[in-house]
Amino acid sequence: MNFRKTINDLNKKKSNSKIVTLTCYTAQLAKILDNYVDVLLVGDSLGMTIYGHDNTLSVTKRMMIDHGKCVVDNSKNALVVVDLPFGSYETDKIRAFDISAEIISQTKANAVKLEGGKEIASTVDFLVSRGIPVMGHIGLMPQKINLVGKFLSVGRNRKEEEKNLEDSQILSDAGAFAIVLEAMKSNLAKKITEKISALTIGIGAGKDCDGQVLVIDDILGLYKNFTPKFVKRYANLDQIINNSVEKFCKDVRNSKFPSKKYSY
Ligand code: KIV
Repeated sequence: MNFRKTINDLNKKKSNSKIVTLTCYTAQLAKILDNYVDVLLVGDSLGMTIYGHDNTLSVTKRMMIDHGKCVVDNSKNALVVVDLPFGSYETDKIRAFDISAEIISQTKANAVKLEGGKEIASTVDFLVSRGIPVMGHIGLMPQKINLVGKFLSVGRNRKEEEKNLEDSQILSDAGAFAIVLEAMKSNLAKKITEKISALTIGIGAGKDCDGQVLVIDDILGLYKNFTPKFVKRYANLDQIINNSVEKFCKDVRNSKFPSKKYSY
């Protein structure tokens, strides 16, 4: 029996309670986060958080399938969404369908996420009408980092505002069940949330979105290479790890570990 949250369950929340999403890539964290969140996002941010890349552009289908499967296998409540890697879906919708179907069938995840606005709307429509639920992603799009040069917020002028309003409407009309709004001026995210029927999931887009997402390594204080303004840190795990490893090394070097208690 499958008790996972469904898109219908999330839609029921549109006006009454916030949808909580966190990124997740590994087994132990999947087990923990699954007790709390509505959606687990196997984001291509794993290229940076797990693999130590500078951006998300070198992430492969293999990585997304392996981590997606791991998260699905180690959770049972949350809806699981897997990112399509850069270069795998932009050129044509049949290719996008094939890779989405492979990811869904191999991981058993519930949906895929794609970055882009009106340029990928016909792909979103193609996927949704063939049984693949899609989460969109507009605003700051990390897969377009080479175009923009750095991670900047969007919605700072009329043109950007109009573009994002239009993109969100087109993606919603194409059938995306939710759209991530990243690093977007709060008033623009609010306007989008009020206007479209798809759920809006904000990351640095203010409090008026239908839900929020953050990168798990950011909130736990594990990933510190780059910390955007919108990240609130709830723990300092890298400090805890440093202290623990330092103590272990000291114990071994001083012949304090293993003591009798830890020996046969
Ligand atoms: O890859 C990712 O983790 C994401 C979130 C930051 C929304 O796309």
